[in-house]
Amino acid sequence: MKKITISLTLLIIFSIALVSCSEIQSDITPPAKISIHKEGVNNPASPNFHGKLVKENNWDLKSCQQCHAANYSGGTAKASCLDCHRLPGGPEACNTCHGDFTNPYKIAPPRDLNGNISESSRGVGSHIKHLDGNTLGNDVECSVCHIIPRSLYDVGHIDSVAYAEVIFSGLAVKGTSGLNQPRYKYDSLKCANTYCHGNFSFDRATSNYTWAFTQAQMVGNNSTPIWNVVDGTYKKCNTCHGKSLTDPSPVGHINSTISACGSCHPTVVDNQGNIIDKEKHINGKINVFNLEYER
Ligand code: HEC
Ligand code: HEC
Ligand code: HEC
Ligand code: HEC
Ligand code: HEC
Ligand code: HEC
Repeated sequence: MKKITISLTLLIIFSIALVSCSEIQSDITPPAKISIHKEGVNNPASPNFHGKLVKENNWDLKSCQQCHAANYSGGTAKASCLDCHRLPGGPEACNTCHGDFTNPYKIAPPRDLNGNISESSRGVGSHIKHLDGNTLGNDVECSVCHIIPRSLYDVGHIDSVAYAEVIFSGLAVKGTSGLNQPRYKYDSLKCANTYCHGNFSFDRATSNYTWAFTQAQMVGNNSTPIWNVVDGTYKKCNTCHGKSLTDPSPVGHINSTISACGSCHPTVVDNQGNIIDKEKHINGKINVFNLEYER
């Protein structure tokens, strides 16, 4: 009984409110159409471009969803994001904020988060050289240097840190531990201690080829390449291993010349020192004679 009374009272109040509202509205002239966004929301060159709004908002799209609908199809804004962001996930697609906006398979920079495409900018750096321009070894997976998020809001993806997290695994960490572990230095943009760039050592004591050693170990040069120096410096044969350019065999390895490497490592190099099979170089395995094995 009490419930019905309350409901009735509410209904009456509501009806009165409605009536008075419509009365007020009919009294005033409707305002000119107010745009929620400033001019240029669709123009990438404008400071009011919507991408910049998102960036200023620490890349959070939730506020956009309030008006443009959870699935970005228009919502109360009656303006769909999906007209232009046509890939599955709409604006949450992996190439929206970084990578090639026109190619869903290219999600790594270039373009970086600031729109840069130059390899000297830190967001771009040597991504291409590792991902699809690797002349020395297999193309490197993202996961060797980053944890890959499955979706935009995955933990660890977007956070308060200004830069991308570089967290090594796989081949980069092979044979490393403790102080010897790979590190990316955000202040100098240097990669230190990666297996790939020569942080390796192999013991004579456990080798089947003790005659190939001049010391107890063969050691790489453990070079520290700078991420955004992409001028060929770090692909010279004696950067990651080698005593010199003319003898790039590692310290502790019998002396050789670059034209001779191919006689004992014939599946990897030819007699001019060119890498003939990228799958066999920087693959975490020793390739000597026709053998391939791990140590
Ligand atoms: C008229 C077409 C169009 C519409 C509508 C549109 N976008 Fe975009 N958006 C673009 C283009 C084009 C770019 C890439 C611009 C560039 O090359 O930097 C972009 C870039 C972005 C970026 C990346 C920004 C950056 O700086 O990297 C985000 C995030 C984004 N849009 C979100 C949205 C959301 C959310 C909506 C809907 C509320 C939306 N967009 C609607 C065309 C559109
Ligand atoms: C308070 C509601 C509201 C919010 C929040 C909002 N928008 Fe909008 N948006 C609108 C409305 C309404 C329009 C329709 C045109 C206009 O009024 O500017 C629009 C239009 C747009 C357009 C142009 C679409 C077209 O088809 O021309 C883009 C792009 C856009 N919004 C992006 C965004 C992005 C990105 C965000 C989040 C940072 C966002 N909006 C947040 C209400 C909103
Ligand atoms: C060889 C290591 C390496 C690989 C492989 C790699 N990245 Fe990166 N990535 C980096 C480094 C280093 C940075 C720069 C960090 C900084 O800002 O100093 C970076 C930065 C980024 C950024 C941030 C760009 C910006 O503007 O700040 C994104 C996004 C990114 N990487 C995505 C990817 C994706 C996606 C892949 C795989 C398709 C990938 N990366 C593969 C090392 C790598
Ligand atoms: C709305 C913009 C946006 C979208 C969409 C987006 N990213 Fe990112 N991504 C970023 C930003 C910003 C960073 C770097 C910032 C940070 O680390 O805090 C980043 C960094 C990365 C990195 C470098 C490692 C890291 O977490 O810092 C990888 C890898 C990456 N994104 C992959 C993806 C994948 C895969 C998707 C699709 C599932 C995706 N991104 C979608 C904005 C975006
Ligand atoms: C980016 C670092 C890097 C550069 C530059 C590099 N190497 Fe290597 N190289 C390695 C690593 C790491 C190994 C250890 C074995 C492995 O993982 O394949 C290796 C091993 C070798 C081997 C032994 C056979 C094998 O693969 O096990 C030969 C021969 C060799 N490199 C020749 C060369 C020549 C010739 C060049 C120049 C064209 C060169 N390397 C440039 C990293 C590099
Ligand atoms: C006379 C044969 C011989 C010649 C010539 C030779 N190597 Fe080796 N190399 C070996 C043997 C044997 C090993 C040790 C394999 C083991 O311990 O399992 C080795 C090991 C290595 C390693 C470290 C382990 C690996 O394979 O990843 C590198 C790097 C390497 N050689 C590079 C070179 C380069 C570069 C040249 C030419 C400058 C060269 N070698 C010339 C026989 C040779």
